[in-house]
Amino acid sequence: MAHSDRFLLAGVMGWPVMHSRSPMMHNYWFKKHGLAGSYVPLAIRPERLAAALHGLHPLGFAGVNVTIPHKLEAMKIVHEVDALAKSIGAISCVIVRSDGSLAGTNNDCYGFIHAVKQEQPGWRADAGPIVVIGAGGGSRAVCYGLAQESAREIRVVNRTLARAKGIAQEFGGPIRALPWEQRHEALEGAAMVVNTTSCGMVGQPALDIKLDKLPKSALATDIIYIPLETPFLAAARGRGNRTVNGLGMLLNQGRPAWKAWFGIEPEVTAELRAMVERTI
Ligand code: ATR
Repeated sequence: MAHSDRFLLAGVMGWPVMHSRSPMMHNYWFKKHGLAGSYVPLAIRPERLAAALHGLHPLGFAGVNVTIPHKLEAMKIVHEVDALAKSIGAISCVIVRSDGSLAGTNNDCYGFIHAVKQEQPGWRADAGPIVVIGAGGGSRAVCYGLAQESAREIRVVNRTLARAKGIAQEFGGPIRALPWEQRHEALEGAAMVVNTTSCGMVGQPALDIKLDKLPKSALATDIIYIPLETPFLAAARGRGNRTVNGLGMLLNQGRPAWKAWFGIEPEVTAELRAMVERTI
């Protein structure tokens, strides 16, 4: 719980980290809740990650988010990893317990699902087939969330088929792996498509996919938020599809982190979204 006699501390560990919009968002929440505290960017080299994480308790940190390139390595350093993070295969959030031990969890899945629900009220995962492009950590979080939301068919398309097959084998249920060559056809009859690859991110090539087969009624989503509208989302919007960009996922994954660190579930307000959008 939050204590007014304590300066609350949290942050994000990454390398590099200065591009992160998380400090802006969390510091907005400290202000909004009238709490004395700060959320700081922590530029941690990979070889210093263990020392940095072990320093959190003596420094009085409630916890940290971990981002690229620490999401896998941090999992080996914390004392306990919950079942959700184990299934996803990465942690995004570390919680410092009162005895000094470190717990790891993953809030990306929550962030994605809640962003879609917030921005597309009435959305249902079981409305029809869902195509997930990519099979990295982001894809795992998205697939896990969609399966939990009772998706009936998830087609995972990835450049490296073995990684898509890995997700299908581990998660089972509605997930089917498809080769990269079938990405255009895989969109046929889909109710939703999610880009989880790094294609379309600033400095990266656009996602190479033809949208002709995608029904106009389908929802197109991307987990990228820089830029706010990737070429893939722009093409989808241009032909009449509804779209959701990756910013909502970033904003929403902060809520369960706050709950775990400070006992408060903060709101993703229009004001917060606009504030972050202005910096992108
Ligand atoms: P993250 O954990 O952020 O999802 P990742 O594990 O590096 O990152 O995954 C990146 C995803 O983008 C992968 O699905 C990757 O495909 P591969 O598994 O074949 O590497 C995909 N990706 C990256 N660059 C790509 C490109 N030029 N074309 C197609 N897919 C690409």
